[in-house]
Amino acid sequence: MMENKQILDSFSEKETFETAKQLAEQAKAGEVYCLSGDLGVGKTVFTKGFAAGLGICEPVSSPTFTIVQIYEEGRMPLYHFDVYRIEDIEEMEEIGYEDCFYGEGVCLIEWAELIKEILPENCKKILIEKDLKKGFDYRRITIEA
Ligand SMILES: Nc1ncnc2c1ncn2[C@@H]1O[C@H](COP(=O)(O)OP(=O)(O)O)[C@@H](O)[C@H]1O
Ligand SMILES: [Mg+2]
Repeated sequence: MMENKQILDSFSEKETFETAKQLAEQAKAGEVYCLSGDLGVGKTVFTKGFAAGLGICEPVSSPTFTIVQIYEEGRMPLYHFDVYRIEDIEEMEEIGYEDCFYGEGVCLIEWAELIKEILPENCKKILIEKDLKKGFDYRRITIEA
């Protein structure tokens, strides 16, 4: 399969939101988007934009204490994971992650690198990084499909 890598520059929260929104408009059921990047880099901002692109209007926040939050009002379900606090991969089994990864909707996983042993081979990788030389609000968004 062809490797496809795209690098986008974001200079504001709004730009990151819009980038994710556009991506979601093209998203298909069964896709898994893996979000990586340090705390405070914009993974949740990205998720909010992604949700908007699916037509989800309700407020989206990080499901840190529940691991997964499901939004069903968009054109397909959004399974939003934040696995930052996971200590054992068993916790993913317990919440029935496979129904989400291989289900009718699209998954977005914050801190996906922490559960790499269970990520589907064909997942899409999104890395968000700061580069302070380019300004405090600058983020480089690398999308690998
Ligand atoms: N270009 C940008 N893209 C995304 N967020 C930005 C950007 N510039 C500044 N921010 C700020 O960075 C923070 C990102 O927070 P959040 O999305 O919760 O991070 P994470 O989920 O990665 O921990 C927000 O306060 C947001 O306003
Ligand atoms: Mg977050």
